[in-house]
Amino acid sequence: MRAVTWQGKRSISVDEVPDPVIQEPSDAIIKVTSTAICGSDLHLYEILGPYMKKGDILGHEPMGIVQEVGSAVRNLKVGDRVVIPFNIACGTCLMCRLDLQSQCETTQVREKGLGAPIYGYSELYGSVPGGQAEYLRVPFADYGPIKVGQDLPDIRYLYLSDIVPTAWQAVQYANVPDGGTLTVFGLGPVGQFAARAGVHLGYRVIGIEPVPERRAMAERHGVETLDFHGNIGDELREMTGGRGPESVLDAVGMEAHGSPVGTFAQHAAGLLPDPLAQKAIEKAGVDRLSVLHASIDVVRRGGTISISGVYGGMADPMPMLTLFDKQIQMRMGQCNVKRWIDDLLPLVEDPADPLGVTDLMTHQIPLDEAPEAYEVFQKKQDHCIKVVLKP
Ligand SMILES: NC(=O)c1ccc[n+]([C@@H]2O[C@H](COP(=O)([O-])OP(=O)(O)OC[C@H]3O[C@@H](n4cnc5c(N)ncnc54)[C@H](O)[C@@H]3O)[C@@H](O)[C@H]2O)c1
Ligand SMILES: [Zn+2]
Ligand SMILES: [Zn+2]
Repeated sequence: MRAVTWQGKRSISVDEVPDPVIQEPSDAIIKVTSTAICGSDLHLYEILGPYMKKGDILGHEPMGIVQEVGSAVRNLKVGDRVVIPFNIACGTCLMCRLDLQSQCETTQVREKGLGAPIYGYSELYGSVPGGQAEYLRVPFADYGPIKVGQDLPDIRYLYLSDIVPTAWQAVQYANVPDGGTLTVFGLGPVGQFAARAGVHLGYRVIGIEPVPERRAMAERHGVETLDFHGNIGDELREMTGGRGPESVLDAVGMEAHGSPVGTFAQHAAGLLPDPLAQKAIEKAGVDRLSVLHASIDVVRRGGTISISGVYGGMADPMPMLTLFDKQIQMRMGQCNVKRWIDDLLPLVEDPADPLGVTDLMTHQIPLDEAPEAYEVFQKKQDHCIKVVLKP
């Protein structure tokens, strides 16, 4: 089959690789019909390269048709149309029963001390072959796959694999009070859906984003927007009665613009051989923290910061005095995709499209064009916001 593979820092190719096969009785094989590129894939493309091996298959946002099922699979049959959540969870352990699927105790990547594995997401998350490919092997197939109807187009359902539930969880974790204001840093795909979910839930939403077309897209969905700059805290306080927003959501993560120290550390780590680079990432502060620090500055005293952007440094400097004194609450983590599907399926199927799932994709292209698409998406060229690959 054809698959998108990692070849090195900023180097992707589309290669002929062996088809996946059933390895466990609980597996299924999916024929992929749509598969998206995520902002998280850009971290692999750029700074998490030391955890990738040449030839690793990328991708964790696929959907498709069940092609084959293992002998123990009961809930799926050949021909079912399914969306695959990005985290791989068993559905029966304590963490899964607590709806913390990203912490599944059966599948945790214990060698790395990390949570549930993620398709196509480096040795940190289990080195599992990803979904930017013609076919995908799905472990625990009785639990993970989300069965969907046959009538609506893929684009209605595809983002249930990751960014719609990720955004939804982030808004829930932001703990916005009735009549409160939600500030969303970053209006990439995750920030778009988080901001729109906030509007849908009746909150005032202010989005901060340096890229004009991303601001314009959010404005179409009822979001007030601002450019990012050094005095963003003062501007936001001015807009919110002097106190700052009760709830702040970081949908940017470790590659934020405007963080010279973190940028230097990331470049320095990138120049080291892989084992040393891994040590630098694990022991030093390599995140670009401008957005996280701005969130801490701007949030109202006693307010909540919800982090959905991914961070990776183990020794990032944090302003503990301010965090403690302002009595700030923080929630974060990988999304527990299955936790939110019952809430979200009716929204993505609603003809009125309240989250605007049909207004995000800017590029739909054949799988073979993935290498150019990674570059265009990373550099935000050609007004690129979301790429969907069609194998
Ligand atoms: N927690 C999860 O389960 C989960 C799931 C999916 C994605 N993510 C993470 O969410 C983050 C966003 O993903 P995405 O797909 O939207 O990617 P993206 O890279 O397209 O979005 C990031 C956005 O932040 C903007 N930005 C950069 N610096 C900024 C600044 N200083 N102020 C305001 N905005 C700034 C960028 O211009 C971009 O629009 C990534 O870190 C990704 O890894 C987490
Ligand atoms: Zn993703
Ligand atoms: Zn589990």
